[in-house]
Amino acid sequence: MRHEHLLSASQLSREDIETVLDRAAEIEENPAAVQEQYAGRVLGLCFYEPSTRTKMSFDTAMKRLGGQTIDMGPVESSSVKKGETLADTVRVVEGYADALVLRHPKEGSAKMASEFVDVPLINAGDGAGQHPSQTLLDLYTIRENGGLDDITVGIMGDLKYGRTVHSLAEALTNFDVSQHFISPESLRLPRNIRYDLHDAGAQVREHTDLDDILPELDVLYVTRIQRERFPDENEYRQVAGEYQIDDDVLADAKDSLTVMHPLPRVDEIAPEVDETAVATYFEQAHNGVPVRMALLDLLL
Ligand code: NCD
Repeated sequence: MRHEHLLSASQLSREDIETVLDRAAEIEENPAAVQEQYAGRVLGLCFYEPSTRTKMSFDTAMKRLGGQTIDMGPVESSSVKKGETLADTVRVVEGYADALVLRHPKEGSAKMASEFVDVPLINAGDGAGQHPSQTLLDLYTIRENGGLDDITVGIMGDLKYGRTVHSLAEALTNFDVSQHFISPESLRLPRNIRYDLHDAGAQVREHTDLDDILPELDVLYVTRIQRERFPDENEYRQVAGEYQIDDDVLADAKDSLTVMHPLPRVDEIAPEVDETAVATYFEQAHNGVPVRMALLDLLL
């Protein structure tokens, strides 16, 4: 894989994806082989939005490769508060670090920031845009739980604002996957993503009711309603809590179903599901470390 920056899942070919996933599997198998590999190298973490998994797993990944991380810290205590632009901040931090990870509330911000830096920049979420490193760990998880070809995947919840959805749906067009999208009418996939999927030769099958498709699914990818992206809180309240799964809902699913979620969850998946064999979301979160180690290895 030879990309300067990882900004969008649309950059990734099937070969790129397989290179990262194969490397992640190798690293998971033998972490000792890479534990000193990036000694003396530094990863810069610039998070303008809350994060637990993405930030901590990039931090862990770099440290498990023998490297170090520097963290801009919360926006409130950074020079952003004094009015510094994103372009200036990343230009400064690239002088301290060998690669940058950026999360920002504005769609398109990662692409804009990447134009100002020479070190690799990874988009860790740009508003309702993209989140490609999440997609790599999602694909790794799907591959480990039954494979990536000849499967039916349902993606449910906030398809409009969910950046993990946009990246995953685009990446899945590289595989022999039948994709189904389940959401309230008001949170359907954005038109630009639907066009991208059509262009990639994928069919976009949309449902408002999970029951219509659940029995056929091999993977159900559940997402949180992205409350922080709604321009109007009333609009959020109209859809909040509409798409929830529990043991009853899952009664009609295949026994081999894999239930995923990028996390954090609010109330989309009842805790009782955690105890069942279909629950894969914590394993999915743990996969963030080997997959991000592989990604850093390939970009550095
Ligand atoms: C997601 C995100 O930030 O887009 N979280 C994550 O990185 N695992 C999903 C979400 O916030 O709902």
